[in-house]
Amino acid sequence: MGFIEEIKRRRTFGIISHPDAGKTTLTEKLLLFGGAIQEAGAVKSNKIKKSATSDFMEIERQRGISVATSVLAFVYKDKKINILDTPGHKDFAEDTFRTLTAVDSVIVVIDVAKGVEEQTEKLVEVCRMRNIPMIVFINKLDREGKDAFDLLDEVEQKLGLQVTPLSLPIGMGYDFQGIYNIWEQNIQIFQDEQKQTIGKKVTFDTVDDPELVAVIGSKRLDALKEELELIEGVYPPFDRSAYLEGKLQPVLFGSALNNFGVEELLNCFVEIAPEPLPKASEERLILPDEKKFSGFVFKIHANMDPNHRDRLAFVKIVSGTFERNTPYLHVRHNKKLKFSSPNAFFAEKKAIVDISFPGDIVGLHDTGNFKIGDTLTSGEHLRFKGIPNFSPEHFRFINNKDPLKAKQLAKGIDQLMDEGVAQLFILNLNGRKVIGTVGALQFEVIQYRLLHEYGAQCSFENLNVHKACWIQADEKSTSFQDFQRIKQKFLAKDKSGQLVFLADSAFSLQMAQEQYKDLVFHFTSEF
Ligand code: G4P
Repeated sequence: MGFIEEIKRRRTFGIISHPDAGKTTLTEKLLLFGGAIQEAGAVKSNKIKKSATSDFMEIERQRGISVATSVLAFVYKDKKINILDTPGHKDFAEDTFRTLTAVDSVIVVIDVAKGVEEQTEKLVEVCRMRNIPMIVFINKLDREGKDAFDLLDEVEQKLGLQVTPLSLPIGMGYDFQGIYNIWEQNIQIFQDEQKQTIGKKVTFDTVDDPELVAVIGSKRLDALKEELELIEGVYPPFDRSAYLEGKLQPVLFGSALNNFGVEELLNCFVEIAPEPLPKASEERLILPDEKKFSGFVFKIHANMDPNHRDRLAFVKIVSGTFERNTPYLHVRHNKKLKFSSPNAFFAEKKAIVDISFPGDIVGLHDTGNFKIGDTLTSGEHLRFKGIPNFSPEHFRFINNKDPLKAKQLAKGIDQLMDEGVAQLFILNLNGRKVIGTVGALQFEVIQYRLLHEYGAQCSFENLNVHKACWIQADEKSTSFQDFQRIKQKFLAKDKSGQLVFLADSAFSLQMAQEQYKDLVFHFTSEF
């Protein structure tokens, strides 16, 4: 197969949802339908269980497992599908944001009874900002839930999407009979009372097909006709280019647990989802079919073995081919690196590969060379955009508890920050180190890992910060100098040396914004 065909057959995407909506179940079912796994239960382990919300030991254990499920690849209808795993746990939301920089499209899973939930809103907002194509899958139709049309409204309003249904449920919960598939023009009916197995599948060209009445009865058919008229009147028809531009989001209904609507989702996905997309770098737009290799690190996973401090850096290939034992330029370090054992990922395992194509993810063994956002190329000095840091939610001073281990602590902090576990800020006033995280859980993870992987002991001390803002200003202006003097106590540098204002309350942030009008207060590090 030629280079271009290889690119065109790749579909790299992520599944996002609020915890418990069914992301893990759906992932697993996609693998089952894709023939990549033989039985259910294989992927379950990648999920940090609810019971583990405060059990970081469990998270450490899960971390080992989740390396294997970070990328799940399989071939379906001749398409090479790469599913990038996104942690469902909200404390790891930042990992998910970063993974979204490496996907070409997403599937959003929503629980039919719960509707649009908080985590879905946040994640969809990020996708919307980047115009990532999205397919919405409304799950758990075997349960009593919200009316399909009310849900479509909710998705439009809360998520700011323009939807078009590509399937519709026939009944719901106790009364759920099957799915009317607008995309494929067929109806699938449940076979048994338990609603576990799919029975009859009726394909038709028009709703007036006599077989339809025989299968679902005239009452249901009338309701269906009405609903279809409503859809035609209210929603725009599916338009692939609008979907690819992130302007139209198709919605499908189903039940991942009962395999309902999953194969249909997969069939629809392989037909409409985008192949690897061009990516903007600070220098220029990089096209996947350029011959020269380029890629970027979007995730770093520490090894579970504390005796070996090697890590796995996940690189998304943007252009060209990535080949084993070939020297590539590490742009930030301006040095050439060769990789003798790049890993490719399959359904449940990883293996060394000789060549990978745009859209693929390779896992590179790393002894501390990489940090998130790093670019690798065939030689060109490119830096990919779009992996910003967001303001953390929790801030604490980190203190060294063992003066003899100061070096180990500094190294450990450095490397954990490169991995993207948390963000480090150094106060301008006194050089004290502040760790910012998305969830409180990460402090425990950091403390544990510093001790077990670096032999360093630390303690944390609360610090009252409402938000971190990255400051953009004319450095010579008097107002910037005033700001620096008056707010000295609240200023810090992030790891790349950018100036950050650690506002202690919403009020003081607002006051500063009003007082220093020619300064720009950014809520992400990339502007
Ligand atoms: P997540 O990754 O989005 O957090 O969700 P996950 O797939 O783990 O699903 C959360 C719960 O919802 C699981 O039940 C799962 O079995 C159930 N579920 C997923 N899809 C469906 C569906 O289509 N219908 C119904 N009725 N339930 C569904 P659990 O009891 O929390 O976990 P488990 O004991 O089954 O592992």
